[in-house]
Amino acid sequence: MASTLESGLTITPLSAACGAEITGIDLGDALGADAVAAISSAWRRYIVLVFPGQDLDEAAQLRFAANFGRLGTRSRPTDNRPEGAGYDRIMLVSNIRKDGKPIGSLPDGEMWFHHDMCYVPVPHKGTFLYAIEIPDTGGNTRFADMYKAYDALPPALVEKLKGRTALHVYDYVMTGKIDIDRDLGNIQHHSQPIFVTNPASGRKALYVNRLMTARIDGLKRGESEAILEQLFDIVERPEGVFEHEWTPGDLVMWDNLCSCHARTDFPTDQRRLLRRCTVQGDGPLRENP
Ligand code: OGA
Ligand code: MN
Repeated sequence: MASTLESGLTITPLSAACGAEITGIDLGDALGADAVAAISSAWRRYIVLVFPGQDLDEAAQLRFAANFGRLGTRSRPTDNRPEGAGYDRIMLVSNIRKDGKPIGSLPDGEMWFHHDMCYVPVPHKGTFLYAIEIPDTGGNTRFADMYKAYDALPPALVEKLKGRTALHVYDYVMTGKIDIDRDLGNIQHHSQPIFVTNPASGRKALYVNRLMTARIDGLKRGESEAILEQLFDIVERPEGVFEHEWTPGDLVMWDNLCSCHARTDFPTDQRRLLRRCTVQGDGPLRENP
């Protein structure tokens, strides 16, 4: 059910898991403290916020994001970025090709569930993705509510995993697991607690994902793999997932500590272009406040 706040925003929940749509605001305007507070509070509650019908250039998108934290800088080295130089804060997510090469990152097709930047010591806490060109079908982004995943864990599993960490690795692939016997020297990787408390809400979330979580530290490989499969299946239960079908002009912001996301496949011959920026995390992830 939609509710309209004093600030003029209308908030409509979008699924039984996370996700809410917010209308009644132009994100290109400089926002007052009351609007920022209302959006922050909705973000805490709904994890993923969708603002349709926005008209944002790079500067306006960055200005909006900066209301919610210090702007993030890309972790991918400059010489390994498809966008080329000058894209320190902005990432293009695109399959559009120029001279045969994608103009953006994460170009084609399906992408498995992941947390953005879980493989660095302080992952960015929020991601802001703005749709510019969208295929006729597919390329939806699916968000898993990781508070709900935590709450759905069997108590014995919570007991077993309490205090443990898992290793996250990312090598710019979009489906499939990395071989952890490889030399990780040149591949970004970092261990994080399996359960994290989101400082914004004080609530505990599960923090593992199918694409980037390679192993549970300190367990034998077979046991680690079996438990991770069990965890991924809980994360991806349909009742814990909100799926967003994009329209150009949508700005979607998500909390990266208490959600992870995936992308559905889409036709290779259709153009897709989105623009992304992030805000930095408050510090290393912690299991307990
Ligand atoms: C991202 C991402 C998914 C998409 O930008 O971090 O995962 O739908 N994008 O393109
Ligand atoms: Mn992502």
